[in-house]
Amino acid sequence: MAPPDVVKRVEQLRRLINYHSYRYYVLAQPEISDEEYDMLFRELQRLESQYPELITPDSPTQRVGAPPAEGFAKVRHPAPMLSLGNVTSPEELRAWKERYEKLLPEGTKVSWVVEPKIDGLTVVLHYENGVFTLGATRGDGIVGEDITNNLRTIRSLPLHIPLTEDGPDAPPRLVVRGEAYMAKAEFERFQTEQAKLGNKFTSPRNTAAGALRNLDPKVTASRPLDVLVYHIVVIEGADGPATQWETLHYLRDLGFPVALAYCRLFDDFDALVDYCVGWVDEKDKLPFEVDGLVIKINELALHDVLGFVGKDPRWAVAYKYPAAEAITRLLDIVVEVGRTGVLTPRAVLEPVYLAGATISSATLHNADYIAEKDIRIGDMVIVRRAGEVIPQVLGPVKELRTGDEKVWRMPERCPSCGEPVVRYPGEVAYYCENTACPAQLVRRVEFFVSRPAMDIEGFGPRQARLFYERGFIKEIADIYTLKERREELLALEGYGEKKVNNLLNAIEASKGQPATRVLTGLGIRFVGPITAELLLNHFRSIDALARATVEALSALEGVGPRIAESVRAWFSHPANQRTVARLTSYGLQMALPEEEKPAEALPLAGKIFVLTGTLPTWTRQEATEIIKRYGGKVTSSVSRKTDYVLAGENPGSKLQKAQQLGVPIISEEDLRRMIQQQ
Ligand code: IVH
Repeated sequence: MAPPDVVKRVEQLRRLINYHSYRYYVLAQPEISDEEYDMLFRELQRLESQYPELITPDSPTQRVGAPPAEGFAKVRHPAPMLSLGNVTSPEELRAWKERYEKLLPEGTKVSWVVEPKIDGLTVVLHYENGVFTLGATRGDGIVGEDITNNLRTIRSLPLHIPLTEDGPDAPPRLVVRGEAYMAKAEFERFQTEQAKLGNKFTSPRNTAAGALRNLDPKVTASRPLDVLVYHIVVIEGADGPATQWETLHYLRDLGFPVALAYCRLFDDFDALVDYCVGWVDEKDKLPFEVDGLVIKINELALHDVLGFVGKDPRWAVAYKYPAAEAITRLLDIVVEVGRTGVLTPRAVLEPVYLAGATISSATLHNADYIAEKDIRIGDMVIVRRAGEVIPQVLGPVKELRTGDEKVWRMPERCPSCGEPVVRYPGEVAYYCENTACPAQLVRRVEFFVSRPAMDIEGFGPRQARLFYERGFIKEIADIYTLKERREELLALEGYGEKKVNNLLNAIEASKGQPATRVLTGLGIRFVGPITAELLLNHFRSIDALARATVEALSALEGVGPRIAESVRAWFSHPANQRTVARLTSYGLQMALPEEEKPAEALPLAGKIFVLTGTLPTWTRQEATEIIKRYGGKVTSSVSRKTDYVLAGENPGSKLQKAQQLGVPIISEEDLRRMIQQQ
């Protein structure tokens, strides 16, 4: 057993080390020398090796040391990790404001926070009672990967909050969202060092991505990563901030790195617009790479009111600057057939280096675009690349023409199946309407097995094409009859016993994938993982969704007419109905698990609760879980929207607020009764 003075010293050392790491890694204002820091660190290491029972996962000595992982476990996010809509001009920015204003009561007072849009990788960080317990990637927005041990190695990420005793108390549960990245200077140093060893690293973002997803935390630790946080996903057991501006300060006071120095609060939209426009000159001066600014409504209560459309919140938007451009030769235009039959012309380019990557292909949007811009095969063209977006051809440099350039036209027949191509009045797209078109079939299979959908390992675009060509697969449901073709699979070149077994096992295992993935995999236009989740949370089964009317669909928060029409159209197609029936008969998960009742049938459906004081038998967390299980929601502050305040002993100011607003106050006993009358 460690003597009490050792226990005390260990605690003190951790506090000191955490504090000085923060001064060094977050503020870049060290107060002590590296030698002094090392002495503290070595003393802690010595005491911990003498008394291993004192080692805790949040000890600063534990950042590195986890063994390489076999793979990453999946983590379901506590709320969907939404992305952001984009605007690229002051006019579009103003239009964004006008759009959300229509949804707010007239005269609602709004202020805005402008933050840099850090070009890194989203991370979701969980803290239980102040201890960093879990860190995940964004993944598809619903489920990410557990990269806790890799994140632990990032020096600026607090393993324990609050950092100092004068910070606010850590809430019992806190989940924050941030961005892991590599600072520009660190990247350059790292790149130069690695170049000497013959290793090539192209951009800070790609290097950070590789480091975070490396299976060996020691590799991650050897890459100079950083993190910045900007959003509270979940806060339980404490009053959270009421505004985004307070959120940034609150997170900083807890000891998180926050880009506050580059964030601004505005209550005048014109000033905000000017700031965004002028900022283009600032962005290269920042220590990290950015791909624009994020404008967020400051009042968090308005976030709930405004909600989101598809996967983008209405209360925030990204302001992006015109991206890097280059000139190269357009070698050819090829037509690709997407899984919905849309024909998209694609540019084949002479390879050119642009914004961190070599580009040899770019989108040309549609035939009208090519005609309008008078883009010809053989032209020198301007190519543009913005962030992660697919590069696009902006137009030809006509002065460089030689006269040998060729005008291009959309082929009259589908390049894949030879059927005539159609175009509807008023639409720009050309379609191949043959649902049996090979290219479409292959694309649909490819999408069904892909990561955001069924995620079947060992099954990718190459397999989709090969199995189609061999006649094994004609539509997605045929994937589940592949096991009847074992012998034929074994006869394929490169397909040994082991590979075939693995593939067939992975296909069988995918039958356990949740219905949201099946729905995503169907490839209905505009229905990605987040919308799939939203639809099933409401309709509970793909069958019920198939029967939903356009009205019922568009009544859902987050579903616009475009999504509703697309869902309706997809399910009314007989071939699609057959696919759904076959998938059901093969035993795929076509509905959310039964035990959860449809949300509106639950006794607390739609009710908003606020907790205060100590309850007789339930902890706060238990009470929160119970309320959620029965369809209710727990928020942290009392407002007119609160339905009940659940009060225990020693309630705080929330009780007074409830009385003032006339919100009913209930006891644990009352809540019990409410959930029993089912
Ligand atoms: S807010 C619902 N703020 O940009 C919250 N995102 O294109 C939406 N990003 O995946 C995100 N800096 O990872 C927000 N200050 C910032 C950000 C930021 C970078 C990333 C984020 C997201 C992507 C959206």
